Amino acid sequence: MCGIVGYTGSRDAVDVLLSGLQKLEYRGYDSAGIAVMKDAGIELRRSVGKLNNLTMEILKRPLSAHTGIGHTRWATHGRPSEQNAHPHMEGGVAVVHNGIIENYLVLKDELKASGAVFKSETDTEILSHLIQRATAEGLCLADAVRSAVKRIKGTFALLALSEKEPGTIIGARLECPMIVGVGENETIISSDIPAILDVTRKAIFLHDGDIVSITGGEVEITDFEGHAVDRKETNINWSPVMAEKGGYRHFMLKEIFEQPRAVTDTFRGQVLEEKGEVFFDGFDIDLSSVKRIYIIACGTSWHAALTGKYIFEDFCSIPTEVDLASEFRYRNPLVGESTLVIAISQSGETADTLAAVKEAKRKGATVISICNVMESSLTRETDWTFMTHAGPEIGVASTKAFTTQLTALYLLALYFGQTLGTLDAGRIKELIQELIKIPKKIETILDSADYIEALARRYFHYRDFIYIGRGINFPIALEGALKLKEISYIHAEGYAAGEMKHGPIALIDEEMPVVAIAPRDATYPKMLGNMEEVHARLGSIIAVVSEGDTEASTRADDLITIPVTSVYLTPILVTVPLQVLAYHIAVQKGTDVAQPRNLAKSVTVE
Ligand code: AGP
Repeated sequence: MCGIVGYTGSRDAVDVLLSGLQKLEYRGYDSAGIAVMKDAGIELRRSVGKLNNLTMEILKRPLSAHTGIGHTRWATHGRPSEQNAHPHMEGGVAVVHNGIIENYLVLKDELKASGAVFKSETDTEILSHLIQRATAEGLCLADAVRSAVKRIKGTFALLALSEKEPGTIIGARLECPMIVGVGENETIISSDIPAILDVTRKAIFLHDGDIVSITGGEVEITDFEGHAVDRKETNINWSPVMAEKGGYRHFMLKEIFEQPRAVTDTFRGQVLEEKGEVFFDGFDIDLSSVKRIYIIACGTSWHAALTGKYIFEDFCSIPTEVDLASEFRYRNPLVGESTLVIAISQSGETADTLAAVKEAKRKGATVISICNVMESSLTRETDWTFMTHAGPEIGVASTKAFTTQLTALYLLALYFGQTLGTLDAGRIKELIQELIKIPKKIETILDSADYIEALARRYFHYRDFIYIGRGINFPIALEGALKLKEISYIHAEGYAAGEMKHGPIALIDEEMPVVAIAPRDATYPKMLGNMEEVHARLGSIIAVVSEGDTEASTRADDLITIPVTSVYLTPILVTVPLQVLAYHIAVQKGTDVAQPRNLAKSVTVE
């Protein structure tokens, strides 16, 4: 995700834009830029890296204006660089954009065929060309934006300036947030509330399909067809600090609730629902020569890797091993040219994972990665990267990055099965359709967050927890336990439920609550048996079960229900309530959820 801001009014637009971008930097910090309207035309200032670099650039080459737009970038298409930084400008039109344009390659080819010259690797640049061409044909800026958005498939919150309409900013939104701040003879527009609070607390939240035209203090909102729409004003009473977290108390909770969007953005543009196909740009690895897959990672990413084993072996029948990167790198792993190594890392900077990748490459393996940070070290070390589109993950405890890693593994395994012919077209289509339903199912689970918070109030005083699961959900027992221990400091262990009788059951008594992951799948009857064993020894049980479950409730003290889905997607749904439970237990305990003791967001040391 990126941050966009626009301003027109009596203040110095450069100051307003920089201040607004500073409040949005949590949305992305790969590069930043502004475009302002001067008497002689639009002037750009852009810089790669954090916003401070842009500020220094403007100090070196000062400018001032009363109308302008700005952007802080989280790279999705095109590496972090100045020429990929927004705003993108074409013939007197400047554009900033948050979102993903799925059909940008097709449109780029069409525009290039008619003479367009592209200066960047981004999807956004096609917007500046489409809008500029429309204004050159005589359309006003608002109609030019309307014509452009009708050509694109994807998501957007975009702002556009044209030298033909110096005091006007046009905005358009579809599935990305955009808020208009209405001041006295001045207007600010942005991705998020924090950026408008320096100017005004009167906000209009635009809806999908809205086009907004701003000139000074005048705000007109229409739909994509140009019909006026009425949007009410809201008074924002958040503090600026609260606003940066979107009203959530911690980034971790905000990021838990961002998961429907993050998962959507991760599969969007990679699947063709109607055709039932998965496709990846630039994946040219010969899978027919792959005899073994090795997935390596650390921490939560390792839990995703463990889940991936089940999916790859079922979807593409390739033996799949999983290893902790910190172990893989020291044990002389048996990898070679017929091994495909998949390294998973949210940050792309984890020292153990990077070292393991180098070892795998040294041994001749092909190495690809799943990563959330473009141009991170891992993306540069590997032959190909699946970029998750979770957006910046600020919370130390990984949440949305994890569910997007699971999404990425599912898509990769589908693609491998599709390429190798181990999945038939009907099965692929069915599995894609199940994936597309997941964001709504996550929302359903999040609707029960208050209930889970109430559970946390009843369980936060325990000193130990055991999490158990079987099959593809065994790794989620590990993940649930890690979430709890790393933010609440409560001792929690994840176990394969079948292991309970081999020792851990000795721990069960009334002081040892057990979180049992028991969705209705092939292992469900065995999970019921495990719950019986715990119940018989006075252990209290929180069971995560499928909607409509009637049997687990006779054995569990508390139930968390999740919607039914494909067994391969259940880990995504099971994880969400466990994240919420861990968060609220930690809040009840009063630990520092934002910066848990002894931890860092990215472990760049060994
Ligand atoms: C997850 O909640 C932890 N913060 C940690 O285990 C993390 O997953 C691990 O350090 C790996 O980080 P990476 O995904 O950036 O490589």
